[in-house]
Amino acid sequence: MKILVLNGPNLNLLGTREPAVYGAATLADVERLCQEAAQQRGAEAECRQSNHEGVLVDWIHEAGVAHREGRLAGVVFNAGAYTHTSIALHDAIKGAGVPVIEVHISNVHAREAFRHHSWLSAVAAGIVVGFGIDGYALAIEGLLRKARPGP
Ligand code: DQA
Repeated sequence: MKILVLNGPNLNLLGTREPAVYGAATLADVERLCQEAAQQRGAEAECRQSNHEGVLVDWIHEAGVAHREGRLAGVVFNAGAYTHTSIALHDAIKGAGVPVIEVHISNVHAREAFRHHSWLSAVAAGIVVGFGIDGYALAIEGLLRKARPGP
């Protein structure tokens, strides 16, 4: 089973961007962690990053088709600041019908008020917030549990 891991704007700067908030790990470290977390659970992670809202919309649409065809369990998505601004991403997730787990490295609720609202949460299958980059592995675990419900 495949999982798509999407990172949005500025997450390519991980490692040097506000390390007190986001830690020292780079995007390459995050992507390695995701691939290992998926492999340990018998799945495969494909990781992509874009700073462009429309590209992220296109990838969610593509994920919807792959999900419908049984090729994709769902998407682990850190939309960065688009979380707080993008009705287009809200509509894309709703329209594509693919399970999306929303991830934030930092605890957005303990930060500035403008980070408290998410346009994605209402259409997300689950949310992981504030666990640092471990949140990506937790989201992969959660997505696979939803895809393969056990006892
Ligand atoms: C973030 C939180 C967002 O508010 C911020 O704009 C980001 C990263 C996080 O992972 O904590 O770019 O999504």
